[in-house]
Amino acid sequence: MSKPVVLVAEELSPAGIAVLENDFEVRYVDGADRDALLPAVADVDALIIRSATKANAEVFEHAKKLRVVARAGVGLDNVDVEAATKAGVMVVNAPTSNIVTAAEHAIALLLATARNVPQGHAALKQGEWKRSKYTGVELQGKTVGVLGLGRIGVLAAQRLAAFDMEIIAYDPYIQAARAAQLGVRLVTLDELLQQSDFITVHLPKTKETLGLIGDRELHLVKPEVRIINAARGGIVDEAALDAALTEGRVAGAGLDVFSTEPCTDSPLFKHDNVVITPHLGASTHEAQEKAGTQVAKSVKLALSGEFVPDA
Ligand code: MLT
Repeated sequence: MSKPVVLVAEELSPAGIAVLENDFEVRYVDGADRDALLPAVADVDALIIRSATKANAEVFEHAKKLRVVARAGVGLDNVDVEAATKAGVMVVNAPTSNIVTAAEHAIALLLATARNVPQGHAALKQGEWKRSKYTGVELQGKTVGVLGLGRIGVLAAQRLAAFDMEIIAYDPYIQAARAAQLGVRLVTLDELLQQSDFITVHLPKTKETLGLIGDRELHLVKPEVRIINAARGGIVDEAALDAALTEGRVAGAGLDVFSTEPCTDSPLFKHDNVVITPHLGASTHEAQEKAGTQVAKSVKLALSGEFVPDA
């Protein structure tokens, strides 16, 4: 009897593949290439993706045998869960696999932005010893506004506390008592914008959060503010941020995510005070191993008709 087929559409850790190999036929495709993806899903039982593959109604129409789509990561914004449910396809993810990694990357961008690390590095590699040009700012005593106190936002806040920063947060879904327990003061969005020296975004991409930081909001911030987004592209409106940087209404930005990815060219890239990385928020060996094994185990359970617990 032939084995059920698992289609891996993006890089999955070897540990994850090892979980699958004995029981399933594992096939590979580049999920970002729709012309390759659509025929490839036709006869598979499971599909494993990360953030580059759009698992939407079109995919489910082509995937006649699909029983489970697994996202090796936290967010589900590239999976149309409603369309999957209509098509009878189970959706699983690895909700805690990369939360520490994502929080650490936000801190890396925040520090890099505060201290001009990539700019100094690039200049020195060109043989330029420019000390005063890359004078930065301290974190101690500064106010950091955490947008979204979910799992990753909390980890970021806890780490930023070690820098002796005052931590404020906007999250309409969290209780003030829980925030106080974390040493975080809950504020309104406008208060956060007005008071923060740094803003770090830790929100999922939803209808409510898309464009949440737009032109109006970027007119409320202090000109010293540095904005970090290692969550999802589009939560900070890119055109509005470009305008704010151009007009000196924002002192810098650290961006790991973009409204369209892959993104290799953007007006934001021209600003010297913008530090960019190519959606590396979840990219550590540890997080990828956890994400890979968690989703592989969930796929195995789902294809055996067993209950799939929350990871
Ligand atoms: C996530 O949602 O966990 C990440 O964006 C996954 C990824 O890096 O593909």
